[in-house]
Amino acid sequence: MSNTASAGWGSRVGLILAMAGNAVGLGNFLRFPAQAIENGGGAFIIPYLVCFLLMGLPLLFVEWSMGRFGGKYKQHSTPFIFDAMGKAPYWKYFGVFGIFTNIAVAAFYCYLESWALSWAYYSVAGTFTGMSQTEVQAFFQNYIELGTSHPVIFWIICLFLNTWILSRGLSGGVEKVAKIGMPLLILFGLILGITGLTLQASPDGAINDGVVGLNYLWNPDFSTIWSFKVWVAAAGQIFFTLSLGMGSIHCYASYLNSKEDIALNAMSAGWMNEFVEVVLGSMIIIPISIGYLGIEAVTNMVSGGSGLGIGFAVLPKLFADWGAFGVVAGLMWFGLLFFAGITSSLAMGTPVMGFLDDNFGIRQSRGAWIFGGIILLLGLPCVLSQDAFNEFDYWAGTIALVVFALVEIVLFAWVFGMDKGWAEINAGADIKVPKIFKFIIQFVSPVFLIVVFIGAIPGIIENATKDTSFYGWMARFLLLALFALICVFVYIASKRNQSSKLY
Ligand code: PHE
Repeated sequence: MSNTASAGWGSRVGLILAMAGNAVGLGNFLRFPAQAIENGGGAFIIPYLVCFLLMGLPLLFVEWSMGRFGGKYKQHSTPFIFDAMGKAPYWKYFGVFGIFTNIAVAAFYCYLESWALSWAYYSVAGTFTGMSQTEVQAFFQNYIELGTSHPVIFWIICLFLNTWILSRGLSGGVEKVAKIGMPLLILFGLILGITGLTLQASPDGAINDGVVGLNYLWNPDFSTIWSFKVWVAAAGQIFFTLSLGMGSIHCYASYLNSKEDIALNAMSAGWMNEFVEVVLGSMIIIPISIGYLGIEAVTNMVSGGSGLGIGFAVLPKLFADWGAFGVVAGLMWFGLLFFAGITSSLAMGTPVMGFLDDNFGIRQSRGAWIFGGIILLLGLPCVLSQDAFNEFDYWAGTIALVVFALVEIVLFAWVFGMDKGWAEINAGADIKVPKIFKFIIQFVSPVFLIVVFIGAIPGIIENATKDTSFYGWMARFLLLALFALICVFVYIASKRNQSSKLY
């Protein structure tokens, strides 16, 4: 069956960097700044930090300890981690989310990641040199619409890279990439961030100093603290950026030894993500774009809170105006995005591989190619149509996370039991976790999640009933079919495993 003995992490630094790499992603550099701008800058930051403390950190503890717990029973994916914790036969089907969401998010995420790769290429090739802002914008639009400027080949290369690295295993592939990619990402981020902050208004360039953008974000604005929409957006960002509610943290943590620390590790990876997000993430896009275009223009550009337009259509033009340093800046910016992306998409592959390995004895190297094949198939609609992309993003990248997190925290604190859960978190811990977290995990986070979920219901109804194009419908159908198919596999696996049950 499982060959996990040889499949653990090589070192603690490697584990933390891989976990941080899992969390640090496109979300930190594109989604966070855009969400912040869309939700009023300083008005966003307080709900965001509160969500991090009351929901982000507690869920990190929960997911890490669930994962390590599952590892004890040779389970590396959430269906059977839930099964081991919940006992009742239905828990494993809730665990299906922890495979489903990874596949569905990877389907559109790898595509975005490949944009970073192609934009890095275009930056070096000098494609944007001499283009006007409208021309860069048009180039970007044409790319999205699969026009002549779109070499689909970058998507294929990107998928291939992901698959190949995954096929080398955790310590042989994922960990190595994280050890190279994360330090580079931080270095590039610091250089670009300092460039952004020291930007000065000049007659023939920027209209604002870099600090104008930073102030916009960091001057707390208490007036919208009662806006429900801002809170839901903040919670959504915390989920996405920390990779919570996905099943990928469980999987990484399941390869830990049962005596190894999770408390300090979880904190380190979580805080590293927050550093990259709130420090580096707010020092680049916002100061530079507001510096050249002003707050109002930038606010108008961020529709839907995605930041793709600024990242891919505005910055390249600004960089191109910076002369020789612009080429370097472009390479650093898109290189940073690519490293951020790939260390995250790798994390999405591992639960699938773990599931196949644990339950069907499929070697990790083969599992990786199976995962790559699935992403190729499911990614295709996302590549071909914006509508399909949006459906995947909304159902898997937003709603599924909240549902899964709510289920897992109830399972952990109320079914498995908070006393046992607390003991799990503290076993082998290298720090003393403040006792208040026991209370937060048991009461505050679940209530918080229920409120967020209820708040999301009108949006869910609206999205479920709205008509869409052919590809949009196809995406909905594929998502449902994927979920159902994983349920079937989980059912088969549970029948196969029954005789060898360890717990
Ligand atoms: N946290 C990643 C980001 O910020 C996204 C992600 C979600 C990665 C789920 C892995 C799993 O972009």
